[in-house]
Amino acid sequence: MTGNIVLIGFMGVGKGRTARMLARKSGMFGVDCDDLIESFSNKRVKKIFSKMGEPWFRELERQVAVWLEQKVSDTIISTGGGFFNVPNIKKIGTVVYLHSDFDVIIEALSSHPNAKKKLKKRPLLKDLGSARQLYEKRLPLYRKTASVEVQVGGRSIEEVADEIIALTGIRFFNSNY
Ligand code: S3P
Repeated sequence: MTGNIVLIGFMGVGKGRTARMLARKSGMFGVDCDDLIESFSNKRVKKIFSKMGEPWFRELERQVAVWLEQKVSDTIISTGGGFFNVPNIKKIGTVVYLHSDFDVIIEALSSHPNAKKKLKKRPLLKDLGSARQLYEKRLPLYRKTASVEVQVGGRSIEEVADEIIALTGIRFFNSNY
């Protein structure tokens, strides 16, 4: 299957919001990998981490990745921050890395009106010291995995979406835009 755009990047960088903006502008449908995992397992991500452990969650990510590669085309796919590690990531579609500095991400999350909820639902953000280490470890890997990198910090979601459209040559299905 082809024609998918796969958004990767650290927790809280705005993959979901960017995917929704891209879907609206392009007329393509969007799916979110964490939503797929939650509906498939009938459990919240937070619950999966606390009850079954992270390796179980990563296995579900791999299963979602196989399904996406085999069944999904012409779709905007937003992912969880660790999804880029699935072995077939590059076969799913054009991989776009959304970049922002760690401090900018945490500042944006903490000053959000729903900050408490946003931090609580992400088990790997519980300890900010470990989260920073995870960010530093992943940064070169995100860059290695993606074929396109877009800066997010200090820009509107619309600007980010327009740059992704320009860089990836997304076809427009929605003639109203
Ligand atoms: C994770 C990121 C989360 C979610 C899970 C693990 C990660 O998604 O998949 O908590 O490993 O970075 P978001 O990036 O949407 O927060």
